[in-house]
Amino acid sequence: MTSRPAAKDRAARKASTPTRDWKSWIAWGVAVVAVLWILHTATQYFAMGVDRTTFMQHKVQSGFEPWAGWRIVLGVHVAAAITAMATGVVAFVLGIRKQRWPLHRLAGRTYAVAVVISAVAGLPLAFTATGGASATIGFLLLNGVWLATAAATYLLARRHDIARHRAWAVRSYAVTFANMTLHLLTALLTDPLDSRAAAYIVAVWLCWPVNLCAAEVALRAGARLNARSKKAVTQKRAASTGN
Ligand code: HEM
Repeated sequence: MTSRPAAKDRAARKASTPTRDWKSWIAWGVAVVAVLWILHTATQYFAMGVDRTTFMQHKVQSGFEPWAGWRIVLGVHVAAAITAMATGVVAFVLGIRKQRWPLHRLAGRTYAVAVVISAVAGLPLAFTATGGASATIGFLLLNGVWLATAAATYLLARRHDIARHRAWAVRSYAVTFANMTLHLLTALLTDPLDSRAAAYIVAVWLCWPVNLCAAEVALRAGARLNARSKKAVTQKRAASTGN
């Protein structure tokens, strides 16, 4: 049977948790962006064909001749990256909404495996990256950060350190969006730098720090909102028990 104080407590919590609504909006916003980017990438690479992408056209123009093995590795990298984006968003939304833990766990594990496969395939690609050594180093750094953040997320979940698992999941998933930020930054910087090649290199270096900064801002805002709603619940509880 539900006790009156517990029912009052739930009612107070419901009335004073803007955090949950705010987090739900963020989760759905991230989900929409992820789905759009997945559709964009899958259409370009697996429906239109890699040779018709602007990426490949610039690469060929810069003197690169794609061979069969390289194409397969790029295909594996892109397919695994898309899987990581898709499973990451499922794990992210379910985690924020605190729903369906078995599905959250399955999505999380698939995400970790997909990141490892995509990052391993990304290694040889880094050595043929458009832009030479500076792009190669930038991609290798990105690879390291992607693997490290995903590993931290997975290990913290295994240790049941849920608060830190959540924070690292946000960071890891933010890095998964690096390819999208890379495209946005390349487009934004091409005119100011008067060179697509230079814009691409700067974007390779900036794509993951920009995303990690956005993740930190989101984490801090979330922590502030959590603290505010906890305070409101405590005040309401104190007021109701005082009555
Ligand atoms: C976050 C870690 C990642 C690393 C280190 C990485 C690495 C690379 C590298 C080295 C290339 C070749 C670039 C070149 O030749 O100039 C590449 C291309 C590509 N990657 Fe990734 N990648 C990552 C994440 C992703 C993600 C999450 C996606 C999501 C769909 C993705 C999709 C692609 C695509 C579509 C290409 C072809 C070029 C383009 O259109 O951007 N990558 N990646």
